[in-house]
Amino acid sequence: MKIYDIIAKKRDGFKLTKTEIEFVINKYTSNKIPDYQMSALLMAMYLKGLDDQEITDLTLAMAESGDMIDLSEIPGIKVDKHSTGGVGDKTTLIIAPIVAACGVSVAKMSGRGLGYTGGTIDKLESIPGFKTQISQEDFINIVNKIGACVVGQSGILAPADKKIYALRDVTATVESIGLIAASIMSKKIASGCDAILLDVKVGDGAFMKTYDDAVKLANKMVSIGKMVNRNVRAIITDMNQPLGNAIGNSLEVIEAIKTLKNQGPKDLTELCICLASNMIYLAKKQSLADCEKQVRDVLKSGKAFDKFIEIVKAQGGDESYIRDVSKFNKAKFSYNIIAERSGYISNINAQLCGAASMVLGAGRATKEDSIDYASGIILKAKTGDFVKKGDILAVLFTFEQEKINQAQDLVSSAISFLDTKPTKNKLIYNII
Ligand code: URA
Repeated sequence: MKIYDIIAKKRDGFKLTKTEIEFVINKYTSNKIPDYQMSALLMAMYLKGLDDQEITDLTLAMAESGDMIDLSEIPGIKVDKHSTGGVGDKTTLIIAPIVAACGVSVAKMSGRGLGYTGGTIDKLESIPGFKTQISQEDFINIVNKIGACVVGQSGILAPADKKIYALRDVTATVESIGLIAASIMSKKIASGCDAILLDVKVGDGAFMKTYDDAVKLANKMVSIGKMVNRNVRAIITDMNQPLGNAIGNSLEVIEAIKTLKNQGPKDLTELCICLASNMIYLAKKQSLADCEKQVRDVLKSGKAFDKFIEIVKAQGGDESYIRDVSKFNKAKFSYNIIAERSGYISNINAQLCGAASMVLGAGRATKEDSIDYASGIILKAKTGDFVKKGDILAVLFTFEQEKINQAQDLVSSAISFLDTKPTKNKLIYNII
């Protein structure tokens, strides 16, 4: 078998066999296919497309290119949740304790932030002492003891995807629905869960800019799940403005704690209730209404908050910060963004807010960059709100005063106004 022939076959619009796909993935992962040939193949895949069988074969080949995590020592159905990425998305911090408090195990591997999207692992590490690098044995023991554990990737999970994603990033081949579906699902399958809930974001702060593309991506991932015997559900949700009010690591942890105390922002609370209910539904097979009732009960009774404390303690974090959030370190400088006119907020561009938060020090431009946990943005108004000239729209936090001007320009340009009340986007568009 020759890589040249496989490239030519895809270039001419033919379907690749499982054996050809496995050949490409194995040889590329072991550095026996050079980047220039893999780039040509990825571009042919991007332009000619992949059918469902090819996407499934690609997913499995990438999943099996590294460690396949075995969670069989955790009894019951293990449900994972994956968000396709957004700004201010701290849902894992809230959902993991809610779902565990409802009796469903959450054994979750999460990532770090890169570019304008934040990562759950960075957020958790802003809690002093919190450990996210935990051995496989301890990970399983914690889940079995308290029902949830959230760690960074252990072992080598889908190394083929890691290598291919880095190449796609520099060869203009990221925005292919088939390649994105295979990339996400390969990591989820390798991480060992039985069922997967996908939060597919749509909007200006998401990979999928249109509803139709989000539905296509969701359908592809659900059908990959069927073909590999995983129960997969996808929820299409809005990312036309940041989720909640806080953007930035410890700022988001503080907002997550408020939400676990049932005092969080409306949009974040609504989305977390929906995602957690659907995760429990996948695991328990009870009616969705019953699952939602359980979620609301653990939020009201404080059991979800108590479970978060248990998780923090089990992973070495200092629980006193969770009980008293005023203990979190504060940024050295803060700056208010003031409304220059009265009117209704018609849009808050999530991508620009994410970029501003990164400038302030909350995110990384490259994997090697360090981050300031207390930097970021608190939005004081959201889409649909009426503000008067002179009101505070947002507060910026940073340790580097010289970053404020650039961040201020980004946030100011992210916020648009109308004289009349705009029709609000739905938060949850569809369940697939
Ligand atoms: N997230 C992924 O993990 N892979 C993609 O291709 C796009 C988003």
